[in-house]
Amino acid sequence: MEIFGTNNHKIIHGDALTALQTQVADNSVDLIFADPPYNIGKNFSGHIEKWASEEAYLDWCYQWIDLCLKKLKPNGSFYVMTATQFMPFFDIYLRKKLDILSRVIWSYDSSGVQAKKYFGSMYEPILFCVKDKNSYTFNANDILVEAKTGAKRKLIDYRKAIPTVYNSEKVPGNVWEFSRVRYRMDEYENHPTQKPIALLERIIKASSNENDLVLDPFSGTFTTCAVAKALNRKCIGIELQEEYIKIGLRRLQLAKEYKGEKLEKEVRTFETERLTNNYNLTLFEEPNGTPIHD
Ligand SMILES: C[S@@+](CC[C@H](N)C(=O)[O-])C[C@H]1O[C@@H](n2cnc3c(N)ncnc32)[C@H](O)[C@@H]1O
Repeated sequence: MEIFGTNNHKIIHGDALTALQTQVADNSVDLIFADPPYNIGKNFSGHIEKWASEEAYLDWCYQWIDLCLKKLKPNGSFYVMTATQFMPFFDIYLRKKLDILSRVIWSYDSSGVQAKKYFGSMYEPILFCVKDKNSYTFNANDILVEAKTGAKRKLIDYRKAIPTVYNSEKVPGNVWEFSRVRYRMDEYENHPTQKPIALLERIIKASSNENDLVLDPFSGTFTTCAVAKALNRKCIGIELQEEYIKIGLRRLQLAKEYKGEKLEKEVRTFETERLTNNYNLTLFEEPNGTPIHD
């Protein structure tokens, strides 16, 4: 296991179970966002995540879930994701230990594979749980969205003693529409299940305050930690694959180099196309039209 960064923004290269047991103090974390492998055969930097059986996957999940709960402060919040087929097990397991306040659906525009013989998957579930339903952080005013009916149509609520214009903003409901991270988006990193910045912004703004500690035991491209840092939260991110540690170090601006390798964002194919096109343009911009390069 290797540890990078600072006390406020820490990256741990290692296994989540070991790192949680040895590197994170009990009752110390304000917010945990856990986005584990889903046991659906994704390739994480050469490692195919697939357990021998569903039971084996769930058994592993219950171990890190229990550790996460141990690390969470008494007034902390826990957000957890997994594949739709495993979420019912998480729900039944967690409801005995925590209060599940919202069962969120992250809904997106299209699935990678277009199903023809069944209804394709267009969402991922997220559980939002708290240890104490009478004492937890929820910054409703920081995550308001437009209330379409009231604001756009300028409706007046005549049920009130003094008729009042409907609110133009509201706390989002439990169906969240955010685009998946696409290859051409600025935030894209080379990872098969990168979560959008906008999704983490909503979670971190709602369920933590400045200087709070945010933990992500399966950091991937370190979206959670990058957003936490940008929002002036402390963070701990754990990740098993070295390639993703490098992304984390760069995204959190914790290092410019990793073991002698310069940390630079991968150039995408359309970016090289653009470079080539610019190069061609300069040829024709020469004063007498004569190419200066062959
Ligand atoms: C679903 S992805 C997380 C994606 C992340 N939320 C993001 O926005 O990029 C799960 C990550 O967990 C990592 N992982 C798998 N097993 C792990 C383990 N035992 N300990 C720590 N990380 C692990 C994988 O390498 C993968 O990057």
